Amino acid sequence: MEVAAGSGFRFGLVFLLLFYPSLAVEPLSLGLAIGVASALTGYLSYPRFYCGMVECCRQEEPLNSTALQFDLQNKLFGQHLAKEVILKAVTGFMSNQNTKKPLVLSLHGWTGTGKNFISKIISENIYEKGLNSKYVHLFVSTIHFQHDKRLNLYKDQLQAWIRGNVSACARSIFIFDEMDKMHPGLLDAIKPFLDYYEQVDGVSYQKAVFIFLSNAGGDLITQVALDFWKTGKKREDMQLKDLEPILSVGVFNNKNSGLWHSSLIDKNLIDYFVPFLPLEYKHVKMCVIAELQARGYIKDPEIITRVTEEMTYFPKTEKIYSDKGCKTVPAKLDLHIEL
Ligand SMILES: Nc1ncnc2c1ncn2[C@@H]1O[C@H](COP(=O)(O)OP(=O)(O)OP(=O)(O)O)[C@@H](O)[C@H]1O
Ligand SMILES: [Mg+2]
Repeated sequence: MEVAAGSGFRFGLVFLLLFYPSLAVEPLSLGLAIGVASALTGYLSYPRFYCGMVECCRQEEPLNSTALQFDLQNKLFGQHLAKEVILKAVTGFMSNQNTKKPLVLSLHGWTGTGKNFISKIISENIYEKGLNSKYVHLFVSTIHFQHDKRLNLYKDQLQAWIRGNVSACARSIFIFDEMDKMHPGLLDAIKPFLDYYEQVDGVSYQKAVFIFLSNAGGDLITQVALDFWKTGKKREDMQLKDLEPILSVGVFNNKNSGLWHSSLIDKNLIDYFVPFLPLEYKHVKMCVIAELQARGYIKDPEIITRVTEEMTYFPKTEKIYSDKGCKTVPAKLDLHIEL
């Protein structure tokens, strides 16, 4: 940790007092001055105190899994599978001192179902500042890697960015949003960092976390959910094994998934494929309530029903799933709230 400056400061003070007699004072004051300086610098070099003032890279401390569980339970609606996988994967990874590779999560699902939202929850549970932490890096392919003709430049920049940040802080988090719109060549650039190497050019990536977000496979997930619904089965009875294999094969064979024939899949570098289910009326309603609460408004049942009903639902005949998930809830709410 960068806080070993304390002893240097103490040494400097003694040096100053010894060699500049004009600064010298009687022994009692000198002792007192050294004592105060020691206490002060001792405090400053105490990691908890120092890291309370300045953001520090997370070292070995395991995650508070109860806090993560609480957040997932209370903030994320209708995603029993994502909750379960993320809780186990993240707490397991963070408490393992001997990880062999970084944690790689691939989050898939329909728009507005909570992929960015859960990434924010994960980040906030690892670093208090969440997405604003200097150890959390968010790339949006349509913003940061827009032009295919600059692929080689992007590759170099991305590799340098990841290498630099992981050398500065092993527990760095990298989130790649809109993966399905990312050039597959860019994935090749980050592949060595995701593999089972102890070190790559002297840097170990085994403590880093990589999260990929995409809509790829959203249609497959919806189909499975719909089949469940049609046969009268409960959504909550859907298990990971009903979805994970379909998802990994589906995105592997989908030219527009960002992971088309990707060696990340056939080399098993993705640890978890996390499915996000399409959200139903009742989940949208929970989002409306949460939004009202967050803004400090009373939970007016009439407004809640109006906003929830105003969202559009699919398939055309059954109308079960919100076609924008919870994404446009805040905008719809604005239309119904009297300021
Ligand atoms: N499952 C959910 N539970 C609670 N809130 C949700 C959920 N899904 C979405 N939201 C709310 O909707 C907002 C938008 O969702 P989010 O950005 O996470 O969607 P997304 O899955 O990343 O969609 P896209 O594929 O379009 O990027 C979130 O900030 C959150 O407020
Ligand atoms: Mg998103």
